[in-house]
Amino acid sequence: MKNNIFPFPLDTSFLDKAIQNAGVDLNIISIRELTRLVDELSLHHGIDFFRFEFGIPGLKAERIGPEEEIRVLTNDEMLPSTYPPFDGIPRLKKAAALFVKKFLNIEVFPENCIPTIGAMQGGFISQAIAGRRREGYDTILYLDPGFPVNKLQTKFLGLKAESVDLYDYRGTKLLNRLDQIFSSRKIGGLLWSSPNNPTWTCLKEKELEGIGNLLTEYDVIGIEDSAYLGMDFRVNYGIPGEPPFQPTVSRYTDNYFIIISSSKIFSYAGQRVALTVISPGLMDRRYPNLKRYYNTDILGRAFIHGGIYPTTAGVPQTPQHALAALFEAACNGKYDFLKKACKYGERARRAKEIFLSHGFNLLYDDDFGEPIADGFYFTIFRGKMTGGELLYQMLLFGIAGIPLRITGTVREGVRICVSLLNENQFDELKKRVSALDEFLG
Ligand SMILES: Cc1ncc(COP(=O)(O)O)c(C=O)c1O
Repeated sequence: MKNNIFPFPLDTSFLDKAIQNAGVDLNIISIRELTRLVDELSLHHGIDFFRFEFGIPGLKAERIGPEEEIRVLTNDEMLPSTYPPFDGIPRLKKAAALFVKKFLNIEVFPENCIPTIGAMQGGFISQAIAGRRREGYDTILYLDPGFPVNKLQTKFLGLKAESVDLYDYRGTKLLNRLDQIFSSRKIGGLLWSSPNNPTWTCLKEKELEGIGNLLTEYDVIGIEDSAYLGMDFRVNYGIPGEPPFQPTVSRYTDNYFIIISSSKIFSYAGQRVALTVISPGLMDRRYPNLKRYYNTDILGRAFIHGGIYPTTAGVPQTPQHALAALFEAACNGKYDFLKKACKYGERARRAKEIFLSHGFNLLYDDDFGEPIADGFYFTIFRGKMTGGELLYQMLLFGIAGIPLRITGTVREGVRICVSLLNENQFDELKKRVSALDEFLG
């Protein structure tokens, strides 16, 4: 950070004008709109902001990925002119099944592992299938708060949405609530991320067991978004083939899609490659209602030929090779991806300490009886301020974050993403948070 004199708080007139010109409400501003606003403020005032609004990797990709892409492109002249198979290249499908065995300890087959353009495409098609399988079962239930873009997908697909807030419901209370909502007979899919974006709560094995039983009982599909697989750093899930294994619903039901993204665990966000694992018990199941949307009533075929083909017709092959190489290296112990990602936990621990010692509180502070883990994100609040009001004051001190309302909770606060924090920025963060604390009184 380059500021020599301390310019905070910034004057409000430029911020007010910028908010007015953009026509945004800080309580519900989207991440993209906020990014534009922060860029504008940063340029105008000539200062660097803490860009806590971005949920992007802050680590370099392991060289295994890019080097594999270059290698396959150099060695195979026909690669760029060859369409990829819709359901993925055999090498990646095989490596993916092995990765799932080694890190989740579940048995799936290469045919169950479908590469997608990021977890985004996996979430999109998973919802399209889950919400269209059975007439009337067209609602996606989220365990909120959650990733705002999944909610845009639900809307885009013309599906309905319902929400259960993890703040209020954990353990048996959560299971009872799900039982109650599932019995309304309109829920097609249940979507969650664990570790959770934005709160970093992590569902316990016992909760997943209960959820799995309910998914089976009501024939609802669980969409388990493992964008942050293994990143509950309280536990070491990183030794291939050895317990403890990442908790997953797939141990308790056949009704699941697991989404595994390369973006965060391998810092490979730019190459847009992820995986959806379709449960072997679900793959060949027939649902006549699917025929209204796809040319088949077989679920796995609907996913591939009705979902992947008409949207992107597959995933570019070089990132598929890169992901395969990363999976292979993780499985044979050559690349300890979670050891590298641990840095995020350390950044969160130190950033939390700064906020908490200056009048801020963690909003989602309890993880079913345990303190919330340190990871990619955490949530803060201050007194009775809304998320938008708090964000406004933070911006005056060169700190950005996202208001929690857009993540599907009614609780007021701001999400902090620590991924981009560097070692040499903690002193400056402390100065700004301390000044903000004094300013707010
Ligand atoms: C919970 C969750 N799911 C999915 C994604 C998107 O992942 P991808 O980059 O693979 O599309 C993110 C990214 O922030 C996320 O937080």
